[in-house]
Amino acid sequence: EKGGYPHFMLKEINEQPAAITATVSPRVEDGMPVLRVPELTDEALRKIGRVHLVACGTAMHAGMVGKAAIEALARVPAEVDIASEFRYRDPILSPEDLVIIISQSGETSDTLAALKLAKSRGVPVLAIVNVVGSSIARAADYVMYTYAGPEIAVASTKAYMVQMCVLYLFALRLAYARGRLTEAETRRYTARLQDAAEIIKPRLADCEYIKYLASLFMNTQSCFFIGRGFDYSLSLEGSLKLKEISYVHSDAYAAGELKHGTISLVTDGVPVIALATQKSVYEKTLSNAKETKSRGAKVILFTTKDTVVPEGIADYIVRLDEYEDIFMPLQLIVPLQLFAYYMAVLRGCDVDKPRNLAKSVTVE
Ligand code: M6R
Repeated sequence: EKGGYPHFMLKEINEQPAAITATVSPRVEDGMPVLRVPELTDEALRKIGRVHLVACGTAMHAGMVGKAAIEALARVPAEVDIASEFRYRDPILSPEDLVIIISQSGETSDTLAALKLAKSRGVPVLAIVNVVGSSIARAADYVMYTYAGPEIAVASTKAYMVQMCVLYLFALRLAYARGRLTEAETRRYTARLQDAAEIIKPRLADCEYIKYLASLFMNTQSCFFIGRGFDYSLSLEGSLKLKEISYVHSDAYAAGELKHGTISLVTDGVPVIALATQKSVYEKTLSNAKETKSRGAKVILFTTKDTVVPEGIADYIVRLDEYEDIFMPLQLIVPLQLFAYYMAVLRGCDVDKPRNLAKSVTVE
């Protein structure tokens, strides 16, 4: 059942190219993104005032990537909420808004409660769900399924990947409907999104180097992730994966926030995973990485193939292929998942069933 892999998590990480193709292909018609939700016509998309993305854990991290894509491409204001916060904070909602609920299982109790709250306020709800016929799928007004197939490992990997893909498709259609992207631009982005399945294959193949890095840091007490923009969202997800399955204390910071407190925790030998895939803020993140290095951190820098990394900034460099900045999360998440995986394996953890956790959290 594990298809020759030692753990479901590794199997599911490797299933990501297929999951991307299964999720994206049915939603591209003549090179254009289509949502296949009859009510979400271009006219309806033009009327949306604000988008609220609501979810828990890794699904919420996918929502952060979705927010950034929606704002960057369509210039529609978007907010991300943790479902357990949203449901109790009396959120400001209006009937022109759209609530997007994201869930792999479709059974997470806080997420379902957030959905019901939005509906009770008369706000339309679109659910992005992996499990067909789940409670969230049934309760939502509209559903866009992710086609990751069953995800068994408690740590979510392939579901997160395709949640991001659906959010990108949504952002592209929204941007096109609202005249923020021309048809030609929309087609170009859509084609690049379809390339994601191929783009990530070399990252899966690079697993030996990631395993080597994990072997260097397997005994660390704690670990920091830093990044800006999309890279910050990925820092949160990389850090969550690491904590969840390897039990290494880890935190993620927006790189510019380090000097507002956290840098006091950076001491000799502490690994700092610096994510620098976004061209517009590359130099900024690099200088933050340098600040940690000068305090003794071991810096593992994730950047693209063509960037120049001056001497004295990184101890190790993980190189990614060139890709559109906005789609970089699809490529960057793979080595972060593998890093968490190998850390957990080397530390002798129960990778697929980490302590104290359940695959679907159906209690508050
Ligand atoms: O089934 P859901 O997507 O609603 O689950 C949400 C979270 O419980 C889930 O993503 C959790 O954070 C994962 N175990 C993280 O790997």
